[in-house]
Amino acid sequence: MSLTRVVQALVQQAIRRAGGWLPFDRFMALALYAPGLGYYANSARQFGQMPSSGSDFVTAPEMSPLFGRALAAQVAQALEVSGTDEVWEFGAGSGALAVQLLQALGPRVRRYTIVDLSGTLRERQQRELAGWSGQVEWASELPQAMRGVVVGNEVLDAMPVKLLARTDGRWHERGLALAAGAADEADIHGGILWEDRLTDLRPPVEIAGDHDYLTEIHPQAEAFVRTLADRLEQGCAFFIDYGFPETEYYHPQRDTGTLMCHRGHLADVDPLADLGRKDITAHVNFTGLALAAQEAGLPTLGYTSQARFLINCGLVPLLAQADLAGRAAGQRLIAEHEMGELFKVIGFQRGEFWDAVGFREGDRTHTL
Ligand SMILES: C[S@@+](CC[C@H](N)C(=O)[O-])C[C@H]1O[C@@H](n2cnc3c(N)ncnc32)[C@H](O)[C@@H]1O
Repeated sequence: MSLTRVVQALVQQAIRRAGGWLPFDRFMALALYAPGLGYYANSARQFGQMPSSGSDFVTAPEMSPLFGRALAAQVAQALEVSGTDEVWEFGAGSGALAVQLLQALGPRVRRYTIVDLSGTLRERQQRELAGWSGQVEWASELPQAMRGVVVGNEVLDAMPVKLLARTDGRWHERGLALAAGAADEADIHGGILWEDRLTDLRPPVEIAGDHDYLTEIHPQAEAFVRTLADRLEQGCAFFIDYGFPETEYYHPQRDTGTLMCHRGHLADVDPLADLGRKDITAHVNFTGLALAAQEAGLPTLGYTSQARFLINCGLVPLLAQADLAGRAAGQRLIAEHEMGELFKVIGFQRGEFWDAVGFREGDRTHTL
């Protein structure tokens, strides 16, 4: 049986067990993280520069090592200011960012701990980081208390979201059900289909108008930063991802949401197709994250575009030293039409406010 059929069977079983309807976030968790089967948990190759490598998308540290070299300037300052010698990375993918940070920071990092939901990726990270075995550790969950500088690139967008649909003026939660009499080989998507149910859930801001509107809310990403806020006794955190403040996220004209799938460096909007074989992702609502963290005692240190952050961290002189190919790849990190503007960086801090180098110019915290 193909991988997609096996994941479909898993989802069908989950729908039946849930009484005939599964909310989208639970579907997304299975499609991405079901052990050995989900997109991030099977052995397919996710990250890489080109489709010819068998990869589906490229992330900043895969695109250019200058991403980690520049971020290292911020991490170095944060280690010094917070008086810690530990780095925690969430969702480390292939391990590329860890290599870049460890190369740049050297002995300033006593311990580099990776937390990743995917066992398969952990094995890949262990191979990639074999040269740093004295410094690097893996943890399967957050400890009760932690200290250090936390980083996460494109991890929040990979956390399951809930889908909300306003149809004929009434809000529904979108989930999955099974077609009557499903499912044999001939059924499209194994007989798994969309079904909306009336809900009391709402987007965090009112959506002007009464037109049909589809969007996402992010309870898991917000719970994640709340837990981090509870556990981080000393230090700070930096997350890099694509997304917007809530006024932009829930703009009345953004009426089909941001849910997106990636396979073979192509994007599509059908998460029910090719289950287990493609990434499913949603943009990040940075206002929601900032509020969740702040309410849990971890205020925002800064928020800006990836381009502004990396330039503040010294990317331009690094580009000047690179060869032509390196400069072209590094340029994509900051070009407005590539990663420079859609991607943002948010920092959270424990304790006294300090002047973080990455947010020194062009801080946009006031837009959150
Ligand atoms: C889009 S990939 C990004 C990988 C890498 N950071 C990069 O930039 O190439 C998302 C990563 O987040 C991990 N992940 C998702 N949710 C997580 C969570 N709650 N805790 C830790 N890792 C998580 C996935 O397993 C995967 O490694």
